[in-house]
Amino acid sequence: MGFPLPRWFAHRGGGALAPENTLAGIRLAARLGFSAVEFDVMLSGDGTPVLIHDETLERTTNGRGAVSETPDAQLFALDAGDGERVPRYADAVAACRDYGLLANVEIKPAAGFERQTAETVARLSTGLWQGATVQPLFSSFSLEALEIARDLAPQIPRGVLFEQVPVDWLETVRRLQAVTLHCAARHLRDDVLAEAQANGIPVLCYTVNTENTAKSLFERGVSALFTDRLDLFAAETSAYKGLHLGG
Ligand code: G3P
Ligand code: MG
Repeated sequence: MGFPLPRWFAHRGGGALAPENTLAGIRLAARLGFSAVEFDVMLSGDGTPVLIHDETLERTTNGRGAVSETPDAQLFALDAGDGERVPRYADAVAACRDYGLLANVEIKPAAGFERQTAETVARLSTGLWQGATVQPLFSSFSLEALEIARDLAPQIPRGVLFEQVPVDWLETVRRLQAVTLHCAARHLRDDVLAEAQANGIPVLCYTVNTENTAKSLFERGVSALFTDRLDLFAAETSAYKGLHLGG
């Protein structure tokens, strides 16, 4: 399965211009011409995959407490900003498919829920993305989650995600049969980039919100960036055709 890697991903759905990890954000990214979005997927108290970043509700909603202890009836009644709801992963996929957006689905398990989250997201994804022209790209800081995704949904490509890339990263990429390396832009080292380039593995960096940083990372050979500043990078993203990976 080929994977057309775009140059830009709207981070957490719509970046800074819409409430993060909401359908409004995804819609906005599409409207501004982005061809790809990244969002975070965690399980609710009922085991439903939903879009949310933190393990707790306080920062992004008007609720309180742990996402993993909040039943759906309560979770879906919350305000996630500007009257938006916390979306089900299934609804985010439907939006992406409607708008033709490529999705980087970051599997974001709450601590202790790695296996359950990965199993649920991987199994559900197979059906949700069935027949899609382009499959999503899974990523996760949890290597356990990626391993489970590899085994349960091998047809969906994977990227390994690190804040700081460890020395044995290439071994991990190979073990997980991953196609991309994702890391924090501020920690990206030249030796990692060189090793990635030598092995034909595209590097994706988060979170890049200034033009100078973007320019310098692309010049260094980074393939794609995650941004909150959809306003700054919309024009660039719609003009770019994409780098084609895989067969
Ligand atoms: O997947 C890239 C980036 O989203 C990872 O960091 O904390 O924003 O999910 P975070
Ligand atoms: Mg993320």
